[in-house]
Amino acid sequence: MCDALSGSAHLFEPKVFELLTAVQEEDQSHLFEHWGSVDARDADKRRLAYQIVLLDQTTPGGIVSYIRRARELLRDSRDGVNPLDGYTPSVPEGVRLDFGSCEYKELQSAGATAAASAAFVLVAGGLGERLGYSGIKIALPADTARGVSFLQLYIESILALQEQAVARGQQDCELPLIIMTSDDTHKQTVKFLEENSNFGMNPGQIALLKQDKVACLSDSNAHLALDASDSFRIQTKPHGHGDVHSLIHAAGLPQKWHQQGLKWVCFFQDTNALVFNGLLPALGASVRENYAVNSLAVPRKAKEAIGAIAKLRREDGHEMTVNVEYNQLGPLLKSTISEEGDVNDDSGFSPFPGNINQLVLKVDEYARQLQSTGGIVPEFVNPKYKDESKTEFKSSTRLECMMQDYPRGLAPDAKVGFTVINQVWSTYSPVKNSPEAGRLKVAANCPSHTGTSAEADVYHSHCSMLRQLGARVAAPEAVLFNGIRVHLGPRITWSPSFALTFHELEEKLNAAELSVSQRSVLIIEGADVHIDSLKVDGALWIRCGKGAQVRMQGFNVWNAGWEWQPLDDTHPGTEQEQIRGFHVKKNETAYQDVLVAVPSQRA
Ligand code: UTP
Repeated sequence: MCDALSGSAHLFEPKVFELLTAVQEEDQSHLFEHWGSVDARDADKRRLAYQIVLLDQTTPGGIVSYIRRARELLRDSRDGVNPLDGYTPSVPEGVRLDFGSCEYKELQSAGATAAASAAFVLVAGGLGERLGYSGIKIALPADTARGVSFLQLYIESILALQEQAVARGQQDCELPLIIMTSDDTHKQTVKFLEENSNFGMNPGQIALLKQDKVACLSDSNAHLALDASDSFRIQTKPHGHGDVHSLIHAAGLPQKWHQQGLKWVCFFQDTNALVFNGLLPALGASVRENYAVNSLAVPRKAKEAIGAIAKLRREDGHEMTVNVEYNQLGPLLKSTISEEGDVNDDSGFSPFPGNINQLVLKVDEYARQLQSTGGIVPEFVNPKYKDESKTEFKSSTRLECMMQDYPRGLAPDAKVGFTVINQVWSTYSPVKNSPEAGRLKVAANCPSHTGTSAEADVYHSHCSMLRQLGARVAAPEAVLFNGIRVHLGPRITWSPSFALTFHELEEKLNAAELSVSQRSVLIIEGADVHIDSLKVDGALWIRCGKGAQVRMQGFNVWNAGWEWQPLDDTHPGTEQEQIRGFHVKKNETAYQDVLVAVPSQRA
C-alpha cells in the first residue's frame, strides 16, 4: 500500500478508508503519492476522498468496477479489437409506414389507446454544444406561432393522452413523466417547471433523475486523471444518455410501473416537436408485434452519418438487433455479406434504417433486464491517442454509454424491431445545430437539424395532415433564413389537446370546407374545437378553454396577418430568434375564444 495513504488512515471512517484502499489497489497509487508532501493538507485529502465516495455512489457499478471495465475497453481499443468481429449483419424485422397511410392511421390510433398504460422518459441532460444556446434546450419554443416550449408541448401531449384514457373510463389514469437531467441542465429544469406549475401536471407525476459525470482516464492503463490545476480532484466528464437506464433502475421505477399496470415505456429527446407523430404509431406497432424493444427509425441513405439498426448473428447462433455506428456498418458488410458495403437499394435508401434514439420498451421485459444488469448498458471508449504507440492520450477520456445500446444485453428470445416513418419531416426534426453548423451540414448534403428546419417541419406536418384529409391548404414557398433554405407553408399548428392523431382530426373538422392561404397563420388550442367551414387568409388564433366549446361555421378570416421576417441590423433578434433566423411581425390577428362562434364575413 502507498505509505502516503496508510499514513492518512486516521482521517477517514473505516468504510471510506477501505474504499480508498480498494481504488489504490486498482493501480491508482498516483492519486495518493503526493499526500506525503508538506503542502498536502488534511482538508484537501478529505476533499479527494469525499469525491471518490461520491463517484463510487453515482457511477454505475461503483468506481472499482468502472476502473476494471475501463482497463478492458482501453486494452481492446489499443489492440484494435472490433466488438462486432464474428457477427454477420442482416436487415432486421420492422414496420415501415407512410405518414397518413391507412396502416399508419390504424397504428397511430392503437398507439394512442395503448398510451394509457405507458410511462414517458425525456432525456434532457445533454449540454447542447452544437447548438450553443445559453439556456436549456427544452425551454426553446417548439414553434414560433404558438410559442410554447418543447417541454410544454411534451407535457401537453402526455396530458392529452391521459384525458383520452379518462374519457374512455380509466378514472385514475396519471401517466408518469421522467426527465433525466445533468449538472448542466438540472437547476434550470427545476426552475422552469416550478415557474410554470409543471405545465399542468401534478407534482408527483413528474420525476427528475439527475445523471452524474464519471471519472476521466489519463492513459491506456486506466489511471484516473487528476485535475491539472488541483491535484486533489479527479477530472470528470459526462457518461452519455445511456445513464438513463441505471438511474431508472436505481429509482426502482420499472417494478413500480409494473405494479401500476403500466406496460410500455417511451423514451424521447429534448428538441423534437414531432416526436408523438412517431411514438404513437410505434407504440401501436409494439402492441401488434409484441416488441420488447421498438426503435423509431428513419430511412437512411447508405453511408449517412447516423447509426443503423441491424440484426447481428454470430457463428455460435448468438443474435442481437442493435444500433451499429455508420462507420462500423460498411466494413462489417464488406467483410461478411456484401463486397460493396453499405449501398442504397431500389428505394434509393440503405436497407438498414437510421436510428433516431426514440424507443418504446415493454415494461415487464425492461424490469427483468434492469434487474439482471443493474441498468448498466454496454459502454465504449473513444480515446484520441498521441501517437502510434497508443499509450498516451491527447486529453483525458472516459467511458461512455448510449441509451440505444440497451438491447445489446437482451435475451436472444426478446423480440426487437423498428418502426420507420418514411417521411422524415413528419416525425423527426430536432434542433441540434447552430446556424453555422447547420449550413455545414447542408453543404455536406445532410439535414441541417436547426431551429429553422425544425420550425418549417412543424408547419409542414400539420399542413400535410390537413391536405391528406382533403383541406385546401396552399403549397409552401422556398425561403432563406440564416442562409438555410426551407419550404414554409401556411403556419398551421395546434395543441395536442385538439388532436394528436388523424382520427381525432377527422372527428373535429370538415376538411372539405377548410381553406388556408399561403401567408396565413392558423393556431388551434383546446379539446372541444369543431371546424365545420372556415377560410383563412391572414392570422386566426382559436382558443378554447377546458370545458368550453368552439364551433367554426361559415367563418371567413381576412386580415393583415403575421410576417416571418429575416433578421437584419435593424432587428438583430433575441438569442432564440437568432437560432431560427427570423422574427415574427404580428400585424393583425383574429381571435376566436368564445363558447359558440358567431358566423362573420370579416374578422
Ligand atoms: P444529443 O445527441 O443531442 O447531444 O443528445 P447533446 O449532448 O444534447 O448535444 P451536443 O452533442 O453537446 O451538441 C441526444 C439526447 O440525449 C440527451 C440530450 O439532452 C438529447 O435529448 N443527453 C445527451 C442526455 O440526456 N445526457 C447526455 O449525457 C447526453
